Amino acid sequence: MLFLGIESSCDETAAAVVEDGRKIVSSVVASQVDIHALYGGVVPEIASRAHCEAVCTVVKNALDGANITAGDLTAICVTNRPGLIGALLTGVSYAKGLAYSTGKPLVPVHHIRGHIAANYVTFEQLKPPFIALVISGGHTSLLLCKDYTEYETLGVTRDDAAGEAFDKAARVLGLPYPGGAAMDKLASLGDKKAIKFSRCSVEGSEYDFSFSGLKTNVINYAHTAQQKGAELDDKFKSDLAASFTAAVVDTISKRLDLACERYPGLPVVLAGGVAANSHIRAAVADLAAKHGVEFFVPPLKLCGDNAVMIASQGYFEYQKGVRADLDLNAQASANV
Ligand code: KG4
Ligand code: ZN
Repeated sequence: MLFLGIESSCDETAAAVVEDGRKIVSSVVASQVDIHALYGGVVPEIASRAHCEAVCTVVKNALDGANITAGDLTAICVTNRPGLIGALLTGVSYAKGLAYSTGKPLVPVHHIRGHIAANYVTFEQLKPPFIALVISGGHTSLLLCKDYTEYETLGVTRDDAAGEAFDKAARVLGLPYPGGAAMDKLASLGDKKAIKFSRCSVEGSEYDFSFSGLKTNVINYAHTAQQKGAELDDKFKSDLAASFTAAVVDTISKRLDLACERYPGLPVVLAGGVAANSHIRAAVADLAAKHGVEFFVPPLKLCGDNAVMIASQGYFEYQKGVRADLDLNAQASANV
């Protein structure tokens, strides 16, 4: 069974064809990063327009790359929640038009579920239940994944996502948007004990995250140093990146550690754009080893937004009977 995935929730227009939820047949990602880099972050209205311009070609290229036509598809899967509303609506509208014109079933997919599914494509043996940590530019969620379409949320961020903190910390160091990958490299060169940044927690919730305090902490640290006349030289930048990353790693590890204790034996699955971070990958691998459980994380190209993950999750949703009518809407926020 061949599933088309369409993804347009943020700043990547993507389409992919995946066979039976596990095998990549084709994948196309058109990134808008260069446009948004001019503004230091994603501009929602520009994102919507760029999706409109790209979506037809991206889907056509994905079908051509799979050497099929839309008539060969089993279903059309589209990210409809959560994300930037105008951006989501572009993909949803296109998918509805394609479903209507081909008579194929339309399957709505939750973006975070999709990120997790990047692991199903990578590891054929991976099956729920497992503990999943999804960390991206817009989301930070610690979940108990009970089945392919059944989740229990253990913790979420109460404010900023981990990726948002990475991008703003990078910006204060003068790195271009999105700065996560550059921070990763810088952090490898610095001293993680150089600066003691806050490890924020949420009162009354041992699993929830809060990254806005850390973000502010880092920005204020850099601004204060500048006001005192310090130069943001290479050592300053790498020490800040390393110390910031250590704070993120500690925050994540503490919550994952608790989840592993609560659900002994369950594998740990990492996903989302920030799952590309080498320091986080290493720390979570160590944590899983400490608990004697398996650890899964997708290759870098499937960590960031893509449509392979949407087609994969769409397959599992389809198997559970999930279908949408042509009145399908997009939702800016939605529980997993
Ligand atoms: O999953 P994604 O492509 O989009 C959302 O769903 O939000 O994640 C993008 C985020 C950006 O914040 C980017 O800076 C971050 O992932 N990112 C990284 C790394 N590579 C990408 N953050 C830390 N370390 C990395 N190596
Ligand atoms: Zn994402």
